[in-house]
Amino acid sequence: MQTTFDLFADTESTQPPRAEQIGEQSWVLRGFALPDMDTLLLALDVVLASAALRHMVTPGGFSMSVATSSCGALGWITDRSGYRYSSVDPATGQPWPRMPEVFCSLARAAATHAGFADFTPDSCLINRYVPGAKMSLHQDKDEKAYAAPIVSLSLGLPAMFLFGGFERSDKPQRIPLLHGDMVIWGGVDRLRYHGVLPIKPGQHPRLGEQRVNLTFRSAG
Ligand code: SIN
Ligand code: FE2
Repeated sequence: MQTTFDLFADTESTQPPRAEQIGEQSWVLRGFALPDMDTLLLALDVVLASAALRHMVTPGGFSMSVATSSCGALGWITDRSGYRYSSVDPATGQPWPRMPEVFCSLARAAATHAGFADFTPDSCLINRYVPGAKMSLHQDKDEKAYAAPIVSLSLGLPAMFLFGGFERSDKPQRIPLLHGDMVIWGGVDRLRYHGVLPIKPGQHPRLGEQRVNLTFRSAG
């Protein structure tokens, strides 16, 4: 299923973003973050200056190919004892940096456009992919409740996003994601499997040789 139509005909925006429906309650909003990009990238640098990206280890002992950090009240972490959310950055022992206002307002706006009013993220996971890095198919299941959607923002190099079903073996849709695109899935689609194919080599004019994904969640 992949339909394209204009959800934004009644807004005052001069160039309405394209909305593609990828599930009953799942949407890709093309270029949704582009108008806020300068502010967003400055805020991202500030966050990463106090909570540096690092390669976390899975419970099985493997180092993840993505480098990870977080901001907001809760940050997703993994180590030998499991996957979970933590209010402190294990690398510094300090609380995670506050979620920048531009992150929060963008995530809320994207969620609203996708039909999820009143989304209040308390966690923003930052994943940095260099060429070759990937994310295997998984469900986002470490949150306390599943009522809130997942809101994801892609920055930098293109990615092929896999959007699957409710079983790992369900054949996923392949959705190319570009700088500034946002994906929102929730409601009946909240527990769909998803992942990212290995990032292809390239240079992005703003971010260089990397893709950065921000995932906004209500975790606590
Ligand atoms: C994730 O599911 O944690 C990341 C998805 C993405 O990088 O687009
Ligand atoms: Fe995920």
